[in-house]
Amino acid sequence: MSYAIVYSSRTGNTKALADAIRAVLPPEDCCYFGTPDAAALAAQRLYIGFWTDKGTCDGDTAAFLAQLTNQEVFLFGTAGFGGSADYFEQIAHRVEALLPAGVTVLGHHLCQGRMPMTVRQQYEAMEDSPRRAQMLENFDAALSHPDAEDLRQLQNAVQ
Ligand SMILES: Cc1cc2nc3c(=O)[nH]c(=O)nc-3n(C[C@H](O)[C@H](O)[C@H](O)COP(=O)(O)O)c2cc1C
Repeated sequence: MSYAIVYSSRTGNTKALADAIRAVLPPEDCCYFGTPDAAALAAQRLYIGFWTDKGTCDGDTAAFLAQLTNQEVFLFGTAGFGGSADYFEQIAHRVEALLPAGVTVLGHHLCQGRMPMTVRQQYEAMEDSPRRAQMLENFDAALSHPDAEDLRQLQNAVQ
């Protein structure tokens, strides 16, 4: 079955997930690998990766999802805030709700993704509070992600 891997990635986290998927799927069936593009719509199955922006997928991915018709889709993504499977599920369901009715969802897999150091500097500039401490803690926890275990779990999920 022909497939495409489509990803949106500003700082490389989601691209790392796309590369990990590519590494375990048969290259001869891949008809597209890259950023959102109408050329990918010809595939029967699409692996679509997004970075989380304001609790849902980034705008480029949202615009691409709207162009789908009746393909099979596996969603993958990264989010700066992690540590809770519930949080990832909420994001995934928000993104799935953007899919046109004829699309079949095969599954989804999200993991945490590191954020730019400028974000930590913004947190540091905040007045001391439990929320600030929690955000700094989350930022530091995200620094190592996506890690090898994240990529392995994603590869298991698509295989
Ligand atoms: C403008 C902006 C908004 C973001 N909003 C969220 C958000 O609402 N929730 C979240 O968990 N992470 C958020 N993040 C963090 C990114 O989703 C996260 O770092 C992601 O792994 C980046 O993926 P990329 O390297 O593929 O671009 C945001 C990052 C940016 C730059």
